[in-house]
Amino acid sequence: MSIIHRLVHLNSIKRFSVHQVLSILISPFYSSNILRQPFSTLLHATSGKPGSEVNCHFGVKNIHTNLANLVPSLSCMDASDDSTFSTLSSDMLIYENFIDEEEERDLFNEIEPYVKKLRYEYDHWDNAIHGYRETERRNWTKKNKRIIQRIRDLAFPPEVAQLAYVHILDLHEDGHIKPHVDSVKFCGDTIAGVSLLSSSVMGLVHEKDETKWAKFLLGRRSLYIMKGTARYDYKHEVYGGDKSVFKNRPIPRDRRISVICRNEVAKYS
Ligand code: OGA
Ligand code: MN
Repeated sequence: MSIIHRLVHLNSIKRFSVHQVLSILISPFYSSNILRQPFSTLLHATSGKPGSEVNCHFGVKNIHTNLANLVPSLSCMDASDDSTFSTLSSDMLIYENFIDEEEERDLFNEIEPYVKKLRYEYDHWDNAIHGYRETERRNWTKKNKRIIQRIRDLAFPPEVAQLAYVHILDLHEDGHIKPHVDSVKFCGDTIAGVSLLSSSVMGLVHEKDETKWAKFLLGRRSLYIMKGTARYDYKHEVYGGDKSVFKNRPIPRDRRISVICRNEVAKYS
């Protein structure tokens, strides 16, 4: 799928869900420790450096739990003001450790043979993405199909028509994604992406009012679900180099592969 930036208007007022209130209440107990885990066997296959894994919480694990029990992490979010925080906290959800190391490896092992044949693209003045290669995938191994299904089940209600192809975006360690809104022609109201190999920081800035912004720490193996106002009214970007900072903490960017599911544009709206 091509990545095109177009403008759309959709305003909605959001409230906190029970999960989010719970998450706010427990977050002080987990503080904002940087969790540095030993690099897995992926190390040999990537240019990864220790320290590229950062989580917002210590000890909160979503792995292998029932989807209904998953709680998005509000501490992965920073915002310009309370109202922006509150609005975006229901339209930009971050699930830390959505996949475990083995699942990350399984996805990587299926993706790598395809992407490694491609060259990283740079320097097109109008490109939203700098230093990337990408592909789309419809068929997956049995194990990976289960992971993709878990993303879909959490992100999309059963009646929502989804794009059958999963978008795979491989961002070079020096690459970055410039502020853009995903094409409203090609994809619907929800974008769900799992991050492999590296943590990163995603910035959102309101299209019409640049004083409204938010930053999200996308931990390695986390899932984000961007929908509604976050998807339509805010431009999103993924920082590279020195700009990869969350709440004054540098988040070193390594090569990062995102596995992104989207839904179809609603036919009748
Ligand atoms: C995109 C995009 C974000 C990501 O492909 O349009 O914004 O997580 N990707 O890679
Ligand atoms: Mn995008």
